[in-house]
Amino acid sequence: MTVLAESTGLLEISGVSVTFGDQRAVDDVSFSIGAGERVGLIGESGSGKSMVCLTVQGLQPRIAETTGTVRFDGQALGRGEVRGVRGRRIGSVFQEPMTALNPVMTIGAQLVTALRAHGLVTRRESRPRAVELAAMVGLPDPAHIIDRYPHQLSGGQRQRVVIAMAVSCEPALVLADEPTTALDATVARKVLDLMVRLCTELGSALLLVTHDMGVAATTCERLMVMRHGVLVEQAPTAQLLADPQHDYTRRLIAAARSTGLDLAGAREVLARQQQGAGNE
Ligand SMILES: Nc1ncnc2c1ncn2[C@@H]1O[C@H](COP(=O)(O)OP(=O)(O)OP(=O)(O)O)[C@@H](O)[C@H]1O
Ligand SMILES: [Mg+2]
Repeated sequence: MTVLAESTGLLEISGVSVTFGDQRAVDDVSFSIGAGERVGLIGESGSGKSMVCLTVQGLQPRIAETTGTVRFDGQALGRGEVRGVRGRRIGSVFQEPMTALNPVMTIGAQLVTALRAHGLVTRRESRPRAVELAAMVGLPDPAHIIDRYPHQLSGGQRQRVVIAMAVSCEPALVLADEPTTALDATVARKVLDLMVRLCTELGSALLLVTHDMGVAATTCERLMVMRHGVLVEQAPTAQLLADPQHDYTRRLIAAARSTGLDLAGAREVLARQQQGAGNE
């Protein structure tokens, strides 16, 4: 194995392709994410966004043929290496919280699953730690809510649980694949702000997958655009909005404008967020 001395990114994806038969779901994708950086991955349905996230975690379907390299913190990640990293140094939040949660396990037990799996808390420390995590994500009555089951929580509360699980081990990177599409607009914004605030506090980098240019523009410092498996464009948010290079990016921006997104406003929100303390 060769070690890249000049490698600076926390996550470095290089020439990654994921192929199903003769269909290329991900086509020669390369990008890098620095420590603490927030990057948005946008693109239409079927463009390969989720497959990129899955591949980073070694969770792409086994029938797929994968080529290229995924490097995390200087280490090449294969399906074997990724096991020690997943959940601990890379946390993930997916679209539908119900699929991420075990319906027959209490919230408290699930909140500490990753910590327990990686030997970071003892059985005795588990309960107080679960209460702490529930409080951290703003769940009501943390001392009691941890004894409930997922179906006894609202959708927004469930996604807060999943976010707490994702950041419980203070990961260096959080992968969030459409984390708020299952929620209504006001709840979605609060959950998104919470996630961004926690990542900022913990110094975690964030890869946010969304098909919503408005959400990406108000959350991320840099944006990447995918189309038909290809990463067609990547640039700092303000630059991408002001001077998109690819016709497809121009269309995404125009579509976002037509639904009322104020892109100048988006830039201001981003500047404010970068200055520090987010507020919910
Ligand atoms: N198990 C599979 N077998 C064959 N093809 C698959 C499989 N899983 C995904 N694909 C294909 O991979 C491509 C990329 O899918 P992916 O889920 O990454 O898209 P996406 O950008 O996340 O879309 P969406 O916005 O709808 O979530 C799609 O064309 C999809 O049909
Ligand atoms: Mg997807």
